Amino acid sequence: MAEPTADERNEEVTMDEIVALAKRRGFVFPASEIYGGLGSTYDYGHYGVLLKNNVRNEWWRSMLTERDDIVALDSAIMQHPRVWEASGHLEGFTDPLVQCLGDCKKRWREDHLREEAGLGPEDELVCPECGGELSEPRNFNLMFQTHMGPVAEEGNEVFLRPETAQGIFINFKNVLNFARKSPPFGIAQVGKSFRNEITPGNFIFRTREFEQMEMEFFVPPDQAEEWYRTWIDIRRDWYLDLGIRPGFLTVRPHGPDELSHYSSGTSDIEYLFPIGWSELEGIANRGDFDLSRHQEFSREKMEYLDQKTGDRYLPHVIEPAAGVDRAALAFLVDSFEVDEVEGRERTVLHLHPRLAPVKVAVLPLVGKEGQPEKAREVFDAFRRAGIQAEYDQGGSIGKRYRRQDEIGTPYGVTVDHQTMEDGTVTLRDRDSLEQERLPIESLVEEIAGRLVAPWTSPKPDPRS
Ligand code: GAP
Repeated sequence: MAEPTADERNEEVTMDEIVALAKRRGFVFPASEIYGGLGSTYDYGHYGVLLKNNVRNEWWRSMLTERDDIVALDSAIMQHPRVWEASGHLEGFTDPLVQCLGDCKKRWREDHLREEAGLGPEDELVCPECGGELSEPRNFNLMFQTHMGPVAEEGNEVFLRPETAQGIFINFKNVLNFARKSPPFGIAQVGKSFRNEITPGNFIFRTREFEQMEMEFFVPPDQAEEWYRTWIDIRRDWYLDLGIRPGFLTVRPHGPDELSHYSSGTSDIEYLFPIGWSELEGIANRGDFDLSRHQEFSREKMEYLDQKTGDRYLPHVIEPAAGVDRAALAFLVDSFEVDEVEGRERTVLHLHPRLAPVKVAVLPLVGKEGQPEKAREVFDAFRRAGIQAEYDQGGSIGKRYRRQDEIGTPYGVTVDHQTMEDGTVTLRDRDSLEQERLPIESLVEEIAGRLVAPWTSPKPDPRS
């Protein structure tokens, strides 16, 4: 079957619908909103925080809990300025900036304009906003600069990291000494990165402050190609296991002209966002570029000594680099649906139960004697078991279900008159809408079991 196009995609969900839901239900707000906002920066509300926590937790689980060849790191956001010289970011981390010389004076990324207009490097470009002439492109460095210490003067400039990866490379020796690992092994890190993007936009897809989940996997040079392929598969499967429909995910190898300065091979895992196919995560074969550059600039030996063979070598690096915000956006987009329940429109997020901000809503039928108290007991049992639950007593039961459907809560437990008689509750499934009666004693175990069971999205996949 043909790949779905962006237009078909927008019939299913638009970015506007996601932005509206995210604000209405407290996932994401424009930052500094009461002051008119600040260029594509966003604040995450309660459910957004829970969703991002779950994305990170799933990533850590796949990197640390389910393997024994990766260790964790949390390095500083600001590093010695020489780090960025060695990494090539000071010189090469630039985008081609063009400015409109006509009426609107807007700034654009030249490469994006050419791509969107389907134009080659020699074709003439005009401003897409007002049709004005554009300036010659100039290389604009994306790193945010600030100063260390009380006075802003030459010599104390520092940069906010544009990727978490360099913090890992400069700690390679530290980790090697304490972790007692030998290649192949990895160092994983999650944290904020900053890029002064020329044209941020499309909600949380491209922002100037964002969070990355990066893992540098150090391997003997002759194993690099094999591990590159392996990590592409592992990372693609991570998204599929978390419910992204296979028809909306693809792996696209970079052409030679697209490769970053450090890469000898990169593949993007792309998702069909409402803006079209776009990068969700990149997997790069960085060779020994980073370790050799830091060895050269710091004069610290970065080699690994193989005790068994006596060989010394600079490991090569395979890097899966993902974005927390971008992954959260993909999960929101892929799970969003407007369907009809009992003759009425309902908006629902079919999020994987492990990603859902709230796992179970406990809903007492209101005004009935003893039911709110019983529901509180059920709610407390979930909390004691470490299962994120929400107690909701306000409004009709239909309204409460809808509120929970919109934030993607997979299970609803209703405490009703029968509960008071026989100790059973109604368990409602967000996706199938099936309702079953279960004894209160088995609830926590039942939900805990469902949270670890394999899961596939109930939404149709155009390729199936
Ligand atoms: N260390 C390699 C590296 O940083 P990248 O492809 O530039 O590679 C990795 O970034 C991931 O970080 C991207 O696939 C994306 O998910 C996320 N990312 C990059 N720039 C971003 C931005 N401006 N806003 C949101 N996420 C971004």
